[in-house]
Amino acid sequence: MDTLGVSPAQFRELAGRTVDLLAHHLGELETARSFPVTSGAETERLFCAPIPEEGMGAAALDALSEVLRHSCPRSPRFFGYVLGAGDPVAALGDLVASVLNQNVTAWRSSPAAVTIERSMVRWLAGALGEPGFSGSLTGGGSSANLMALAMARESRQPANESGARPGAIYASTQVHMSIPKAVALLGLGRAHLRLIPVDAGFRMVPRALEQAIEEDRRAGRNQVAIVATAGTINTGAIDPLEEIGAIARRAGLWLHVDGAYGGLAALAVPEKFAGLTAADSLSLDPHKWLSQPLDCGCLLYRDRTAAQNALAYSGDYTRVLSEDPVEGFAFFEESIELSRRFRALKLWLSLRYHGAAAFRAAIRADLTHARQLAKLVGEAPELELLAPVELSAVCFRHRAGPGASEAEANRFNAAILKKVIARGRVYFSNTTLDGRFALRACFVNHRTEAADVEAIVPEVLAAAHEVRG
Ligand SMILES: Cc1ncc(COP(=O)(O)O)c(C=O)c1O
Repeated sequence: MDTLGVSPAQFRELAGRTVDLLAHHLGELETARSFPVTSGAETERLFCAPIPEEGMGAAALDALSEVLRHSCPRSPRFFGYVLGAGDPVAALGDLVASVLNQNVTAWRSSPAAVTIERSMVRWLAGALGEPGFSGSLTGGGSSANLMALAMARESRQPANESGARPGAIYASTQVHMSIPKAVALLGLGRAHLRLIPVDAGFRMVPRALEQAIEEDRRAGRNQVAIVATAGTINTGAIDPLEEIGAIARRAGLWLHVDGAYGGLAALAVPEKFAGLTAADSLSLDPHKWLSQPLDCGCLLYRDRTAAQNALAYSGDYTRVLSEDPVEGFAFFEESIELSRRFRALKLWLSLRYHGAAAFRAAIRADLTHARQLAKLVGEAPELELLAPVELSAVCFRHRAGPGASEAEANRFNAAILKKVIARGRVYFSNTTLDGRFALRACFVNHRTEAADVEAIVPEVLAAAHEVRG
């Protein structure tokens, strides 16, 4: 007896109710508060009730409206972190992927899913000017970065059989936290992560990189990889990829480009990304700048053999019996993951639905919104920009008045951010640049219009007024 059975008719009814709820939610996004009225105690009360022994049936879905009410809406005025708003067409792809429940391990387990994922990887690689690259979709940029550094380590300092030894990884001081994490997980040792200084635009200084590499070489230390960032998390800076690529080649080091935030902007403004093709591996995050619902990351790489050397290790139970290049393909030979979700379906559906040109236009609009905000900040005497705007992250702060110390300015701006979020009209986040607390608005939101950007400065000034009391 199937104790979990749901008939097609019941499914249609449940799905219909859910879709109605979501359509209503989408309709309200434009006027929604940018942060829900909620608290930790309230969410604990609502969502931690004991699980019933007897099923509730369709009534179980009643709680969904509370889930929506206590979530951070992806409204047009959401500018936090680096996170796309989520394309509803792609969300339907996710629903289909879940109902089909394909396990995207190998072609024989999921013929359509594996083929669509490989086709999406080829599309991404080709659209970025790297048609020869292979790859796979991942849970995000962090896991793509981890796999890339596993390939780098195995290619320069094989460790899979005998265990890891320390090895230097070079990245700028602006590197994303996922790189130190990966360095630690791979046994290379975070003490061997060389953080190279940046220039006034927060880009890695190639001369300093060369010096660090030379110093380690002279000291006889193991060297593994350079990680360049195409769109730093803090400010969106793009490291000088061409120069870094030349340095990597001269030094014989693996070059990984972390493009989780910025790499996909190369679809719209390729001229900013000269040198991207020098990479041995490249991380991307379609769940950021291609508006895919979480999760949808991607790792591309030049050499499949390097990927297999690092990541292939199969049991007899997974042995693929086909010699055919399509039917014999297995993602687990090139990925950390064995069981894998059908992530490619949403991307494929949404690219087919909207067309590639619509995505390029959305990215260009985000870049324009960032310049618009930078201009508005520049026009407000109380505010100042804290970094050049290369892509779509805008870092700024309130000057906090004449004579304010850095510590006072930091406290004041942190209080402003809390107030802005509590006021609920716009949402952005924060970072620290050269010890200065920065308000940080990042535009990777296809729903944002110029009027939404115009709301930011008045909100900051109103919040500052409230903080001063
Ligand atoms: C430059 C950079 N690298 C890596 C990541 C990590 O990506 P994910 O959050 O998808 O793991 C981010 C996330 O913002 C990022 O901006």
